[in-house]
Amino acid sequence: MRIIKTIAQTKRLIERVKKSGKTIGFVPTMGYLHEGHLSLVRIARRKSQFVVVSIFVNPTQFGPSEDLAKYPQDMKRDAALLKKENVDLIFYPSVNEIYPPDYKTYVYVKELSRLMCGITRPHHFQGVTTVVLNLFNIVKPDIAVFGAKDYQQGVIIKRMTKDLNLDIKIVLGKIIREKDGLAMSSRNIYLSPRHRKNAIVLYQAVRRIRHDFRQGFSDPKRAKTMMRQMIEKKNGRIDYIAVVNKNTLSPVKKLGAGTLIALAVFFGKTRLIDNTIL
Ligand code: PAJ
Repeated sequence: MRIIKTIAQTKRLIERVKKSGKTIGFVPTMGYLHEGHLSLVRIARRKSQFVVVSIFVNPTQFGPSEDLAKYPQDMKRDAALLKKENVDLIFYPSVNEIYPPDYKTYVYVKELSRLMCGITRPHHFQGVTTVVLNLFNIVKPDIAVFGAKDYQQGVIIKRMTKDLNLDIKIVLGKIIREKDGLAMSSRNIYLSPRHRKNAIVLYQAVRRIRHDFRQGFSDPKRAKTMMRQMIEKKNGRIDYIAVVNKNTLSPVKKLGAGTLIALAVFFGKTRLIDNTIL
């Protein structure tokens, strides 16, 4: 496994890999890896012959009052985990390597970037699409694997890939959860023991709607109210609850197969997200 910090060196290696005829699978991450990330690496390993993981805490996707400065990092541990997964290359650039002082260019997927997480984080997805396109141009993958935990991110990246005619297959891996149902996240370590316990309610809320839907329930307004009540009982501060079409992200009039139930909730200062698709 190689660990490379510069774009120039990475491009040289990628060119050699391409010439050898190998297909490239790519998993972009911000590091501090957990089983959720590793599940994506395993998908990339299965579906391609040369696996690249990037570790880069991307400053342009954080708002001014968000957790960029204290985002957790542990490169040594990450590298050991990725070595076990037979990863071929870790691309581990500095901020200056990706955003040199004269950097000016941004990529923005209209409308989809303003909904749901984009309401309270208006610049977040522009930062994501900008860095992901840049990483795609460096790594030149055949497939790239993202997690369904960040479902909206997946929809937006698929849109960008289609709109800009990138010849990259985007694969979404399912959400990996802790034993009690909490979706794994690098941010879970911020939770106090009390918040950690209460945070299970995110999964319980979306599961409750999935269960009721199977019993014939179909009212999105009532679904939102039910979830709101469950979450508020556990002292979660709701950022949003969305009941939307999984492709267009626009609100549905009736729950149906393909409806995305997604939410973002604060426990203390920590913002958690979860979702399910009916
Ligand atoms: P990060 O939060 O590190 O997540 C990297 C990838 O892991 C994303 O595709 C995310 O959806 C996936 N992931 C996180 N938790 C998961 C879980 N519990 N189960 C399954 N997949 C999970 O998402 C980002 O980084 C950044 O926005 C990035 C795409 C790297 C651009 O900077």
